[in-house]
Amino acid sequence: MILEFIFRWAHVLFGIVWIGMLYYFNFVQTEYFKEAEADAKADAVKKLAPRALWWFRWGAMFTFLTGLVLLHQIGAGTSFLGMPVIWVGALAGILMFLNVWLIIWPKQQVVLGLKEGDGPACAAKAGLASRTNTLLSGPMLFGMLGSKHLYIADVSAVGFGACILIILALEANALFGKTGPMTSVKGVIHCSLALTVLLWALLAFL
Ligand code: HEM
Repeated sequence: MILEFIFRWAHVLFGIVWIGMLYYFNFVQTEYFKEAEADAKADAVKKLAPRALWWFRWGAMFTFLTGLVLLHQIGAGTSFLGMPVIWVGALAGILMFLNVWLIIWPKQQVVLGLKEGDGPACAAKAGLASRTNTLLSGPMLFGMLGSKHLYIADVSAVGFGACILIILALEANALFGKTGPMTSVKGVIHCSLALTVLLWALLAFL
């Protein structure tokens, strides 16, 4: 009991570190880089961005690891299929974690000059994955909180399946697609809120 609470507390704390940094990159740093003087930008690329990326990726790692512990703990008594809402949140969270470690961090190493490669192409790939994570953050948190604090009677297999397919399609877009309406800060925030409402409606009414 006490141990489960400690993991839950640590999970949310690490989640704040991670998603706080994600929002910093998407809403603050990239917008600042568009306007910054060349030497201010060069200094930030060298000294600020690597520090922010360190907290970002390790925040993601420990959120994920504590999330796995929680999944194991809550799965111990019930069947996983009896917890559709947490699966919507956990799938979004797991894909977001993979985007951090398998796309954003490797590509950012090239962008920051820590590794050889095609800078502009890597910046575009990292940017799309980062925007997708911002998009998924609303539904992810909806799933995390909704599983215990929101009552939805009898989620249908169709509603649940539709949510899973939408999240997987958005991940496919992160790998092969474009930023589209997520390009602007306003756009990605609106899309994230709209997606959260859509998934909620699918779970509640389908
Ligand atoms: C990386 C993948 C993640 C996995 C596998 C995961 C898994 C979980 C699980 C299993 C729970 C317990 C749900 C329940 O008791 O019904 C949970 C709760 C929660 N998670 Fe995550 N999570 C992830 C990412 C995140 C992120 C990024 C955040 C951002 C802050 C977050 C915030 C929360 C919150 C606020 C709760 C609710 C705690 C409560 O109400 O007791 N999670 N998560």
